[in-house]
Amino acid sequence: MTASPRTVAVGGELPYQIHIGPGLLSDASLLGAAIRGRHVLLASDDTVAPLYLARVRDALQAARPELKIGQYVIPAGEASKTLDNFAGAIAALAALGATRDACVLALGGGVVGDLAGFAAACWMRGVDCVQLPTTLLAMVDSSVGGKTAVDIPQGKNLVGAFHPPRAVIADTAALRSLPVRELRAGLAEVIKYGAIRDPLFFQWLQAERAALLAGDDAALAQAIARSCEHKAEIVERDPLEKGERALLNLGHTFGHAIETAQGYGAPGNDNLNHGEAVAVGMVLAARLSAALGMADAADTDTLRELLLAYGLPVRIPAGLEPEGLLAHMRLDKKNIAGRLRLVLWRGIGKAEVVADVDETAVLAVLRQG
Ligand code: NAD
Ligand code: GLY
Repeated sequence: MTASPRTVAVGGELPYQIHIGPGLLSDASLLGAAIRGRHVLLASDDTVAPLYLARVRDALQAARPELKIGQYVIPAGEASKTLDNFAGAIAALAALGATRDACVLALGGGVVGDLAGFAAACWMRGVDCVQLPTTLLAMVDSSVGGKTAVDIPQGKNLVGAFHPPRAVIADTAALRSLPVRELRAGLAEVIKYGAIRDPLFFQWLQAERAALLAGDDAALAQAIARSCEHKAEIVERDPLEKGERALLNLGHTFGHAIETAQGYGAPGNDNLNHGEAVAVGMVLAARLSAALGMADAADTDTLRELLLAYGLPVRIPAGLEPEGLLAHMRLDKKNIAGRLRLVLWRGIGKAEVVADVDETAVLAVLRQG
């Protein structure tokens, strides 16, 4: 396996390409080709911007000297995915004089991608967004599929829009500066694809753990491409999550409740980040599935062991009340008519959406921690 550039196509009404390979953030022609108009807002966070913003801006300006490029940089971390910072991005577009053919470049992890994507969805009722993911999690999940959002104190991603990107450009060399904790968080979402629909990929992840955790370029490129193929296949059939796209949320209802209850992660606090919360959530969903007689408890153990082997948490952090977590779960976007609707599974590779889940059974799982 080599780490040569790859492309994954996302079909549907608004098709686009996901470009995956080392050095792409300096690829002037690739970046330039993604821009239609004259105005570009380069959005990032204050960890990623010092590392990568200048190279993107310089490459873009070299390719397209006529471009007017503004920038908007937020503090790093989930706590920045707010309506206030959304308003800041909108103000930056206004200051730039951005017209309908403008483009927002989202350079960073899922926080920047979701927030900048939402600003692009709203400015003048929608301008282009090109996702430049720099975390593994963003490369395998958040940059693809057009979900954009901000968090509010009442819950994660509760304010947002579907707004597919015009392109996704994933520079795998950017992963070299990613802290190992964030690499592991991304691997939780990679494991999710195996857990919900691909037992062979799950086995590959069991076998390639050492290479992936060591940041091996070829193994990571393979994991990213396979994950993007899975996500592309689902979102092109169900872009607005009317059906099977919900399966991508295995563990997320539990995970989002944990993130909301903790008040969201930020550099310098010990709160779980999104990928870690999803890891815990997947184990809780698997345990609930076993308790409801849908799945074999041995599969829960296999999933739990793989997550542990990747250094991910598998238990609810201390101090979070089960009743409080359940209250947050009631505000999940998948719920209908006030009843819990969860992604559960029938074992490795087989997930399904279950409506009207009994809250007593959920509470029992939450109480076990
Ligand atoms: P993040 O954006 O907070 O990035 C994690 C940390 O890594 C940040 O501190 C960031 O500054 C730093 N970082 C990013 N790239 C770096 C690099 N190359 N080198 C060094 N440091 C780097 O978090 P995330 O895990 O990327 O994304 C999580 C967010 O994505 C959550 O808000 C979640 O809700 C969202 N999400 C959205 C979707 C979707 O479909 N839209 C899917 C999954 C997750
Ligand atoms: N991360 C879930 C989705 O994109 O649908």
